[in-house]
Amino acid sequence: MKSDIVVIGSNMIDLITYVDRMPVEGETIEAPEFEMGFGGKGANQAVAASRLGSAVSMISMVGQDAFGQQQLANFKENNIDITGVGVGTKNSGAAPIFVDKSSDNRILIIKGANNELTPAVLDQHLDIIKGAKLIVLQQEIPLETNYHAIDLANEFNIPVLLNPAPANDDLDLDHVTKVDFFTPNETELATLTELPTGNLAEIKIAAKKLVAMGVKNVIVTLGSKGVLWVSDKTDQIIDSIKVKAVDTTGAGDSFIGAFAHFYTDDEDIPTALHNANRYAAITVTKRGTQKSYPTLENFKKEIETIES
Ligand code: RIB
Ligand code: NA
Repeated sequence: MKSDIVVIGSNMIDLITYVDRMPVEGETIEAPEFEMGFGGKGANQAVAASRLGSAVSMISMVGQDAFGQQQLANFKENNIDITGVGVGTKNSGAAPIFVDKSSDNRILIIKGANNELTPAVLDQHLDIIKGAKLIVLQQEIPLETNYHAIDLANEFNIPVLLNPAPANDDLDLDHVTKVDFFTPNETELATLTELPTGNLAEIKIAAKKLVAMGVKNVIVTLGSKGVLWVSDKTDQIIDSIKVKAVDTTGAGDSFIGAFAHFYTDDEDIPTALHNANRYAAITVTKRGTQKSYPTLENFKKEIETIES
């Protein structure tokens, strides 16, 4: 099986509660709505790229419980190759998520079987990895597995993208410098570089520090403002569009998946970022994570309506 995009990462069951406010300690309150969905940053990115039309393989571990089987079915339904997806001995990863009235979220993750995606598992799937045009990583699996993936990508001369979410203080800068695309938000950038990122000028300095250390492209995600792209040749803002946010959960993942799609579909980096920003903006206008990711056809339609 040869796929253009290989996502090495997590899958989780999202348990999304829409709240008016969070309860305080000892308090029980009623929340207006609850939804369950397929999530996990890795799976979300894979689904976004696949819905846009990319050939995508996932290397991941589902749980031994019923959710694990549902995850496998969901990958298949989304046309994702699951040759590299194993069934672990632990329960499936799960994510209780709370979305408030201003559409902001709070997320807890229980990694479960995602912790069983060890470096040794990658070695069983070298044929999948070798065939990729782009390898995509996040941080919901063991860091050593990501480091091994980065080393393999370098060895096989395949571009690799590391999305450092959720933030992990133990992330080792030596490995970060070996990636082609690094996509932190302001906070993640500050933690890693130990530099302030309170305004655009500071963000640029911090991103340039990583480029000077060897990262080919630093893409700082700035929420509704778009992204800052820094390489050794350029630093530029690629803007996004204004939409009415309903649920921002998983928007960052849809951006990564969409970028992976457009970039491996031979768009240049700024064009791919431009389109990925727009794709992510569309997803925040709808509830849920994967549920809110459009196909290429629907994405084009929605963008036309908004931009006309
Ligand atoms: O980025 C959003 C995702 O984070 C959710 O789908 C949840 O599963 C957590 O992984
Ligand atoms: Na959404």
